[in-house]
Amino acid sequence: MYVIAFANPKGGTGKTTSALLLAEQIALAGASVTILDCDPNQNLVEWGHKRKIAGRKTPFNILPRPDESEVIEIIDGLDGKTDYVIIDLEGTASQVVTFALSRADLAVIPLEPNSVEAPHAAKAVQLVNRTGKMLNRNIPYTLLLNRANAAFQTSEERELRVETTDSHVKVLPVSLIRRAAYTKIFGEASLLDELRSSLGKRAGEREIEQIDKAILNAREVAQKLMDLLEQKEAA
Ligand SMILES: Nc1ncnc2c1ncn2[C@@H]1O[C@H](COP(=O)(O)OP(=O)(O)O)[C@@H](O)[C@H]1O
Ligand SMILES: [Mg+2]
Repeated sequence: MYVIAFANPKGGTGKTTSALLLAEQIALAGASVTILDCDPNQNLVEWGHKRKIAGRKTPFNILPRPDESEVIEIIDGLDGKTDYVIIDLEGTASQVVTFALSRADLAVIPLEPNSVEAPHAAKAVQLVNRTGKMLNRNIPYTLLLNRANAAFQTSEERELRVETTDSHVKVLPVSLIRRAAYTKIFGEASLLDELRSSLGKRAGEREIEQIDKAILNAREVAQKLMDLLEQKEAA
């Protein structure tokens, strides 16, 4: 079982979005996935709830935020029952975050590549490293550049990639692009894969193309994250 935790003390960086996209892509790849929604906002629980009410099946399980005292027990209890546990964390440092990180095989820190979000992501890296030190183990992490420009790499993204390489901060080589489809899945409580059919027959070629690009990008990001986990296991 692999445990992937999405962490960043700043809200709105894309933790919930990337957690959901990853869950769908891993499920599509044929593995079993459980989302542990540790954010008090319960966005993913709500997303799943809306689907249940509408009679739509979801290809993964979603568990609600456990009590702080139960986080570790719940994660450990999933071993053998699911291939991947994806944990969506709240936008503040808390005991729940520390407990979840203590079990993480990979911490993913999403951020928009700009000077406002970079310092927050640096704090998230420190938190992961500090938690690892406390436990006397290395907690692998990667930054995930989110809301990247679709058409070209901005100078801010380029600079961030150079700076992080120089300072040996790990960044996923593929960025998650800013796409309307990634917001729409929340509004419509849908999977990315369902957006195409929900467009209807009158959809233009461009609309379909945008969704296909979003699917492709989500798949690439998920593949890179899965590769990281496998490399770490092999090492
Ligand atoms: N790559 C993206 N493209 C378009 N919208 C995005 C993207 N990533 C996040 N968003 C939107 O930004 C907002 C904040 O993202 P969210 O995943 O909820 O952040 P967090 O969980 O870190 O607070 C949401 O409205 C979400 O739909
Ligand atoms: Mg969130």
